[in-house]
Amino acid sequence: MEGSIAKHLLNSFLILLAITSLINSSSADTRFYPVPPNIVSTEFIKTSCSSTTYPRLCYTTLAGHASLIQTSPKLLAHVALNVTLATAKSTSAVMLKLSKGSGMNPREVEAMQDCLEELSDSADEIRRSIGEMGQINASNFEIMMSDIQTWVSAALTDETTCRDGFEGNTVNGKMVRSRIVNIAHMTSNALSLINSYASVHA
Ligand SMILES: *[C@@H]1O[C@H](CO)[C@@H](O)[C@H](O)[C@H]1NC(C)=O
Ligand SMILES: *[C@@H]1O[C@H](CO)[C@@H](O)[C@H](O)[C@H]1NC(C)=O
Repeated sequence: MEGSIAKHLLNSFLILLAITSLINSSSADTRFYPVPPNIVSTEFIKTSCSSTTYPRLCYTTLAGHASLIQTSPKLLAHVALNVTLATAKSTSAVMLKLSKGSGMNPREVEAMQDCLEELSDSADEIRRSIGEMGQINASNFEIMMSDIQTWVSAALTDETTCRDGFEGNTVNGKMVRSRIVNIAHMTSNALSLINSYASVHA
């Protein structure tokens, strides 16, 4: 599996290299144009994302980190968690602000406060997973991976509970709801990339 992805990436890279040199040789300017260094990584991210439930979201949220990720399934999963946490934090901040404003009815404000608690639990679980992701090594792999899978699944459950309890009928309510759904999708993708990393490692 890993070998065939690597082969696929190598093929893409070689094709690109061939195209690049073709372009170079046909132009008067014979300076060597290097292949942009992120192309191989971008392909790797696209291929990895294609097995997640929300491949387009996966790709658009991670491709910007290609130079860090390179072709590492571990870094891909790690960055996916980091990006999810950052998004959860910014959504919590927006929700906190909205819940103190006047754009929502009392029932929505109450639902939002419950939701904020769940989102905060979810952020803690993701934060803990990120902590272990940074310490994972060959000797603790099974234990840490099992923790991470448990916590990220719990985070996804908390987000789902938050979403289900939040009807969000007003404009702000709908906006918040779609942000929560987005976080849940990102978390689902992160979990899927974590599972892939666990399976290539095993
Ligand atoms: C993830 O975030 C942590 C904390 O902000 C940071 O130290 C780490 O370098 C990040 N890792 C990756 C792979 O982005
Ligand atoms: C693996 O990480 C643990 C800490 O989580 C550390 O105690 C141990 O020495 C590390 N093992 C290796 C082989 O690096």
